[in-house]
Amino acid sequence: METKPVEWVEGKVRLIDQTKLPHREVFLELGRYQEVVAAIKTMKVRGAPAIGIAAAYGLALGAQSIRAAGKETFLRRFRAMAQTFAATRPTAVNLFWAIERMKRAAASGDDPARIKEALIAEAKRIDAENEAANRTLGRLGAELIEDGSTILTHCNTGPLATGGYGTALGVIRAAHEQGKRVRVYAAETRPLLQGARLTTWELMRLGIPVTLISDTMCGYFMARCQINYAIVGADRIAANGDTANKIGTYPIAVLAMEHGVPFYVAAPTSTLDLSIPSGKEIPIEERRPEEVTHIRGVPIAPPGVAAANPAFDITPHYFISAIITEKGILYEPYQARLKKLGHSGEKEA
Ligand code: MRU
Repeated sequence: METKPVEWVEGKVRLIDQTKLPHREVFLELGRYQEVVAAIKTMKVRGAPAIGIAAAYGLALGAQSIRAAGKETFLRRFRAMAQTFAATRPTAVNLFWAIERMKRAAASGDDPARIKEALIAEAKRIDAENEAANRTLGRLGAELIEDGSTILTHCNTGPLATGGYGTALGVIRAAHEQGKRVRVYAAETRPLLQGARLTTWELMRLGIPVTLISDTMCGYFMARCQINYAIVGADRIAANGDTANKIGTYPIAVLAMEHGVPFYVAAPTSTLDLSIPSGKEIPIEERRPEEVTHIRGVPIAPPGVAAANPAFDITPHYFISAIITEKGILYEPYQARLKKLGHSGEKEA
């Protein structure tokens, strides 16, 4: 059985604390919505789709504690909670998309008791639809992968990041499930090491051969023709196809173009934000400098040194060979083809 990174269990939000992996599997049972907010901020749960699912369950949880006789008072308090979730992490649009869905579900109910039930059902639906989308995009994307390939991936895009199956990692595992022999180079993903800690852990459990490399080794292996494809996930895809993903993705895309390696982005349509024209408008999260000056709490730089910590970078659309979604595989010109898909991620909470 696959570990569900976040789920609704007997009126609580249960999640695996990803900051403890791979050495300890610690499950948290959160009974207050503020604890879910904190878990997203501190990246106990992380990855664009998983953050959206956690916020949806967190809002369902928070709604249960609202004491209001009438719908208007209920909705006012619910919207305030939604605002708290929207302020956790700015880049992954799946968060805002899920919050919008929950707000719509709340607004369409009749009275607080029914709305509370409807919100639990809506969060479960978001979770289930997301996993189904990942399975579909995985299967579609696997058609691009030839037997005997070596694939470079960055950050973590497996079940932990996505609520189920995976996006970029979903493509890789679908190819593996189809009987293709695939091997993976997992880039460690400084500063928080999602590649080293989480991607290797997931791939090893799936029985897919994986080699851990530092982020600085990507060019070395491409120059030696040891990588056939680079596949990554996405936190937000703008209307022109520009894509925000974990810091370190953009240099991989540039290297891939230089070495003639196809560079694929795999993401469900809940990651699209067609309301913004390009990557320039995507807000980039800046995190604490200590994440760079320390590794797992151990200082690696002189005390007091200045450190920058943008958590994501933007890969311009012209570096992307294809965008793999559950509704199909898209090629340039992305602008027109993304528009046809029709979904626009919601930004406001
Ligand atoms: O900061 P994180 O760990 O939440 O960032 C995660 C990523 O950048 C993933 O690559 C992205 O969310 C795609 S996951 C399907």
